[in-house]
Amino acid sequence: MHGSSARGLVAGARLAKFNFSVPLASTLKAQCKIKLLHPGQGIHTTAKINSEPEPEMYDVKRGMKIWQTYGYGGIEEVGLGFARIPHVPRPGDVLVKVLASSVNPIDTAMLNGYGSQVIGLMRGLAKMETGTFTWNEPSFPLTVGRDFSGIVEKVGHGVNNLKVGDVVWGVVSPQRQGAHAEYVLAAASNVCTMPDTLTPEEGASIPYVALTTWSALTVSGLLTPFTARGCRVLLLGASGGIGTFASQLMSSWGVEVVSVCSKDNFDLVAGLGSSQIYDYQDPSTKEILISQGNFDLILNASGTEDMDYLQALKSWTGASFVTLSPPLLRNTDKMGIVRGMMQSVCQVVNKNALTLSEGRAYKWAFYMPNPLAFKEISSMVAKSQIVPVINRVYSFSETPEAYLAVSEGHGKGKTVITLEE
Ligand SMILES: NC(=O)c1ccc[n+]([C@@H]2O[C@H](COP(=O)([O-])OP(=O)(O)OC[C@H]3O[C@@H](n4cnc5c(N)ncnc54)[C@H](OP(=O)(O)O)[C@@H]3O)[C@@H](O)[C@H]2O)c1
Repeated sequence: MHGSSARGLVAGARLAKFNFSVPLASTLKAQCKIKLLHPGQGIHTTAKINSEPEPEMYDVKRGMKIWQTYGYGGIEEVGLGFARIPHVPRPGDVLVKVLASSVNPIDTAMLNGYGSQVIGLMRGLAKMETGTFTWNEPSFPLTVGRDFSGIVEKVGHGVNNLKVGDVVWGVVSPQRQGAHAEYVLAAASNVCTMPDTLTPEEGASIPYVALTTWSALTVSGLLTPFTARGCRVLLLGASGGIGTFASQLMSSWGVEVVSVCSKDNFDLVAGLGSSQIYDYQDPSTKEILISQGNFDLILNASGTEDMDYLQALKSWTGASFVTLSPPLLRNTDKMGIVRGMMQSVCQVVNKNALTLSEGRAYKWAFYMPNPLAFKEISSMVAKSQIVPVINRVYSFSETPEAYLAVSEGHGKGKTVITLEE
């Protein structure tokens, strides 16, 4: 793990617009100031905010620093802003003071509009609680950042698994404002006490990849901790955030893991429980793995898709190729919800029409919240059956640099942002 280096605020990051749609207390209307970064200068100025008050939603006395964007223009559009610290308006929510958070590929993709149609719909559906609904609820200002570690600051009604002062880790769902801020609101069911063996940075690196891996292996791949022993799994993308977690989880379940990554990462991957490792840049890799042809499951966490690998699965035993790069959100972004969904269903049916005739299935996998799995993962991490793998820790002011690193791919484990100076 490399240490963090605080190199000050990142030049080039900026807020494109500053008509905050964040509701502000009436007493502060037109007096509040946000800090803006000038592109290329890294200095602060202030701007007045003018928006309709909804005082019940924000603590009027206190503010927080938050990374936000006002447009799908990528990392260039992200800027450091200042907003009210949220209250806990809904039963079942907790407010967490963030100690560290991680950056996942979905964060940098969302800054370019990835998933905006489906996430907008989910936001609209969430608003039905208040009696309103829109098909595509606006996303801006948008803060990304799916997983975090921190300290519980406030708890909502009905929360009985957590109390103020607990040191926790958790995930905030994509339709909610993310964790790249000093405070985050999350559903208490997606937050649990963090094992005290971890630093905040280590804790922030795990929840999102852990729950995504769990969902991919158990829901899509039909593997369970009780039936996995002795299975052979081919892991594509073994050196990334998902891959480094997945190989440890499967090894501790007794799975024989065969990994594919680049040669540079062989040492890293070898220490995480793989029995064999292959270089994806070596032209003979695919041929060798297909000729073995005896995998019960292929987990594709490489971000690319090579359907030839389906032939490496056993046939007529329920074996499946599970991909973490389904086209669903890309299709809905391009074609809208209805046409995009129909196109995605056609694609998955087409792929299965070819593979089911050979007794192999092709499936998609997604992140899914799962409180029971989260508890089990906490217990495995507390026993050091799974250890965090962190590529680099960035300071909070270096957040755009962290986005840039993740957007370039080639992750070796996780990229983390710390709020500790
Ligand atoms: N569906 C969902 O809900 C969901 C949730 C989380 C993640 N994901 C997706 O799952 C994928 C993995 O996520 P992540 O966080 O692990 O990303 P990551 O940290 O960027 O890891 C991707 C890894 O794949 C490796 N790789 C690239 N091309 C490869 C190839 N042809 N064969 C084998 N390995 C290859 C890269 O290694 P090199 O550096 O050597 O190129 C890198 O280590 C991403 O595409 C992400 O978007 C989906």
